[in-house]
Amino acid sequence: MQVFHHIQSLREALQQERRAGKRIGFVPTMGNLHDAHIELVRIAQRHCDVVVTSIFVNPLQFGLNEDWDKYPRTLAADTARLEAAHCDYLFCPSDKEIYPNGMVEQTRVIVPTMTDVLCGASRPGHFEGVTTVVAKLFNIVQPDAAVFGTKDFQQLAVIRRMVEDLCMPVRIIPGDIVREPDGLAMSSRNVFITSDERPRVVQLNRSLNWIKERIVAGETNFIVLADAARKQIEDAGFRVDYISICNSHTLELAAHDDRDITILGAMYTSGARLIDNVSVVLG
Ligand code: PAF
Repeated sequence: MQVFHHIQSLREALQQERRAGKRIGFVPTMGNLHDAHIELVRIAQRHCDVVVTSIFVNPLQFGLNEDWDKYPRTLAADTARLEAAHCDYLFCPSDKEIYPNGMVEQTRVIVPTMTDVLCGASRPGHFEGVTTVVAKLFNIVQPDAAVFGTKDFQQLAVIRRMVEDLCMPVRIIPGDIVREPDGLAMSSRNVFITSDERPRVVQLNRSLNWIKERIVAGETNFIVLADAARKQIEDAGFRVDYISICNSHTLELAAHDDRDITILGAMYTSGARLIDNVSVVLG
């Protein structure tokens, strides 16, 4: 695997690949790689000839009181994992390389819909930071396809919208959520879960699945379902950010006759904010 820290040298290498007719797959990450990231690399390998993974803990998508400074940085271990997965290129730029004019004056990419609800409601500016950096990374890598995990369901929807609205020639491929044996969605932030919290955090996933079962059984009072799930998670000892039953395409609150539904949730542990979602398509 070739490792690049600078845009120019990565571009030159990828230009050679493109000239040789290779299709380029891209997996943007913030590092602290786990099995779910490696699965995204594998998906990219299935669709493309060469795969670029980026590791950049993007300061623009973190709020002032969020965990940018304590976000785990594990570059040596990440590099070894990507080598073992036969990733072709690793791009790990500095903040200066990505934001040479500083963050305040950085031109932004804003998706006006879907970004101020759910995670966007409690993380103002987060999605603007995500779409801005992903647009920049797309311009740098110029991939044919890019793979994003479905755990960040809202992020995936927002990026799809950006690509559509800005006519970006990138195919967006979703990667399924990869879970621990008890159902906890894999996340770089799981390292912040304490051993006392660990057996209980799976309540988020259990409650989302409980809602799904109730909906499949024919229940249509989504407000009651969301409130009950919220109570289950609070009883397990966690503060809930949101539990929302949404139309999978618009991310608006689901109507009673919606058939394609995603149930999304976010909760706080003592050291992390965890998100998860489950989808259901009604026959
Ligand atoms: O999902 C992430 O890890 C980040 O939001 C992304 C897409 C790499 C942008 O910084």
